[in-house]
Amino acid sequence: MTDFDQIEQQLVERVRSSKEPQSVLRAPELKALYAQIRTADDKAAFGAAVNQLKQRIEAAIAERQSDTLAAARTPIDVTAPMDVNARIPDTLPAYRGSRHPISQEIARLSDIFGRMGYAVEDSREIDDQFHMFESLNFPKGHPARDDYDTFMTVEHDADGDPLIAPAHTSTMQYRILKKYRSQLDRGEAIAAIVPDRVFRNEDLDARHEHTFYQVEGVYVAEGVHAGMLIATLQEFLQEYYAQTLDVRVNPFYFPFTEPSFEFALSCPFCKGTDSTCKVCSGEGWVELLGCGMIHPNVLKIADIDPAVYTGFAFGCGIDRLVMMKHQIEDIRHFESAKLDFLRQF
Ligand code: DAH
Repeated sequence: MTDFDQIEQQLVERVRSSKEPQSVLRAPELKALYAQIRTADDKAAFGAAVNQLKQRIEAAIAERQSDTLAAARTPIDVTAPMDVNARIPDTLPAYRGSRHPISQEIARLSDIFGRMGYAVEDSREIDDQFHMFESLNFPKGHPARDDYDTFMTVEHDADGDPLIAPAHTSTMQYRILKKYRSQLDRGEAIAAIVPDRVFRNEDLDARHEHTFYQVEGVYVAEGVHAGMLIATLQEFLQEYYAQTLDVRVNPFYFPFTEPSFEFALSCPFCKGTDSTCKVCSGEGWVELLGCGMIHPNVLKIADIDPAVYTGFAFGCGIDRLVMMKHQIEDIRHFESAKLDFLRQF
C-alpha cells in the first residue's frame, strides 16, 4: 500500500524548508507516484489520490510564498501588534490612468508662451469683486458685469460683497501688473500668462460649460501697440496647431481694453459648410479669444503710468482650443469623468 500521508508529510516539510518551494512539485516521490498510476489496480482511484496530494502540495507552496512576502514587508521597528502570517489581500484590478487632455494642453501652451518669454502664473477658485470687476474698470452697477454671471459664496469680502468663483482669468491682471511692476523700471517688459479654471452660470450645451479653462495673457512695456498683440496671438495659434490658420479679428467691447477685439478661427469641423454643425452653429467660425490694448484705467489702478507704458491683454478659451485640436464635438466631455473619453488621450 502506498502511504500517501507519509509522502505528503515529507513533501510539505520540504516545501516549508526549501528556498525554492516550487521545486517540490518536481520531487522524485511525486514523479514515482505518477508513474505508478499506469500499473495501479484501480487507476481512477489511484490517479485521483495522486492529484489530491499534488493539490495539497500546491496549497502549501502558495501559503509559503505569501508568508515570505508578508515577512519581507514587515517594517523593522513595528510598535503595534501585527499578524505577519496574514495573507496579502487581493488587490482590485486597476487601469493605468492618463493625463487629462486639458492638463496636457495647458503644459503645451505654457511651453509655447514660455519660449516667447512669458512667465506662467496660477489663478484661484475663489476671488473678490475688486479683482473680478473694479480693478478691471467695471465700476459698481456697470451693465457689462451682467455678462459674467457666476457662483457666489455666502461669505463676504471686506467691502461687504459676496466672494465669487472667478468667471474669467482676467481677475489676475491686477496681480500680475503689481507683481511684475518693478521690471518696467529696469527697462524690461511685464509678460505673463495665467492658464486656469473659470466658472459661469451657463445654460449648458455642446459649447457651454459651467466650469472651463482660459489662458489670460498680459504684456506691458514702452511702445506696445495692437500690431504686436495680433502678431503674438497669430504666432501662438500657428505654433499650437502647427499650421497656417484662417483667423478673423473683429472690433468688440470689453471694459478693460481699448480698443478691444474678438479673435475667431475658421471651424475645423465643417469649414462653414454645415448649417447644423454643433460646434459653430453653422456660422463657420469659432470665437476663441477676447483681447485688446489694456485700458489706461487698469494700468493706473496698478500704479503704472499709461502715458509712459502701454500693453495688451488677451483671454482665450482653452477648452475650445483643445476641442478643435482633437476634433471633440462637445465641451461637456471634459468634465464628464467618462473614462472611455479620457483614455483616448
Ligand atoms: N475676460 C474676457 C472674457 O472672459 C476675455 C478677455 C477679453 C480677456 C479681453 C482679456 C482681454 O485679457 O483683453 O470674456
